[in-house]
Amino acid sequence: MLPPGLVPGAPLTALAPMQDVTDLAFMRVIAHYGAPDFYFTEFFRVHAQSRPEVHILRSIEENTTGRPVFAQLIGEDLGHLARTVRLLLRHPVAGIDLNLGCPAPKVYRKNVGGGLLREPARIDEILATLRAEVPGLLTVKMRVGFEDTSNFDRILDLIDKHDVDLLTVHGRTVREMYHAEVRYERIAHATARVRCPVLANGNITSAARAAAVLATTGGAGVMIGRHAIRNPWIFHQCREVFAGRAPGVITLGQVREYIERLFRATQVDGLAERLHVNKMKKYLNFVGQGVDPQGAFLHAMRRTETERELFAVCDRHLLNEAHLPFSPEPYAGVIARPNCEVPRGEPAPCSLTAITA
Ligand SMILES: Cc1cc2nc3c(=O)[nH]c(=O)nc-3n(C[C@H](O)[C@H](O)[C@H](O)COP(=O)(O)O)c2cc1C
Repeated sequence: MLPPGLVPGAPLTALAPMQDVTDLAFMRVIAHYGAPDFYFTEFFRVHAQSRPEVHILRSIEENTTGRPVFAQLIGEDLGHLARTVRLLLRHPVAGIDLNLGCPAPKVYRKNVGGGLLREPARIDEILATLRAEVPGLLTVKMRVGFEDTSNFDRILDLIDKHDVDLLTVHGRTVREMYHAEVRYERIAHATARVRCPVLANGNITSAARAAAVLATTGGAGVMIGRHAIRNPWIFHQCREVFAGRAPGVITLGQVREYIERLFRATQVDGLAERLHVNKMKKYLNFVGQGVDPQGAFLHAMRRTETERELFAVCDRHLLNEAHLPFSPEPYAGVIARPNCEVPRGEPAPCSLTAITA
């Protein structure tokens, strides 16, 4: 049995796992504005030398959100997956989630994450191993395929074969990364084919969109990633919309308060001011999509280097007319694109530096 959602009988909501984002601090900030029903950790990497990453374990051990946290794994070695599951089950996890979606070439070339979608036979072995090790909830998060959707049904049948308890489907192939149209009809297909509840994922930009996606897909709920960074009220708004109420209007003044809270939550001893500001810019690239239709906030925010400069920009764009509404949908054409805060060299897999909306 899945843990009950906050509103019995209502569609479920989940915060999507996002590397470098969904850490303890971010989970707590989201909970402040209205927690999702379920959280998922950033992925724990599993290989011969791996031990569960301490900073990810913190999001489980020190979870004060009141909501369950599923631990996500990425890997393909059966013995090391089993070993990691045994280690993780010593912690208060709601369940174990397998990543079958990460599209970063560095990852899929090792045949893990989205790379596994090319090999249903390997997924069969992995799910058999995990099912044998996990007495409680085993969940899977997958894309609809690697190049195309030719393996989709075969993999969906493995979800049933191994009694997976919850499936999340991101309606894009690995090749489609993060920008292509989401294939909600494939999510509907999964919902009809598998026994377990399905969470629909991909471009759920608002509570209204969540309701529309649920209506098209028949999913048991929604998983939301980037648009929860932009709008941390989104899970509360989903509950309002699911109950037939209008979601409250968020003002620019409230967004200023969110940014301040995020800044304080992500402050750690020894983190240089410039690096902290750069980290904030990665979140604000998404927030800025709802501030003004011209992207003026984004433009100014990207040029800041100090805390003082950053908050001066926030004050100018968010407090001068603090009563104005924050757009519930991202403004068309305002692109979340990291610029100077992106380190040189190849971007990290599935990190904020690698992904632009
Ligand atoms: C910065 C970032 C990091 C991500 N890291 C992970 C991850 O660790 N595990 C995973 O399964 N998906 C990861 N994803 C994919 C998201 O969970 C989600 O499937 C994707 O962003 C589509 O949902 P959205 O349109 O609501 O953002 C990541 C996405 C982003 C933007």
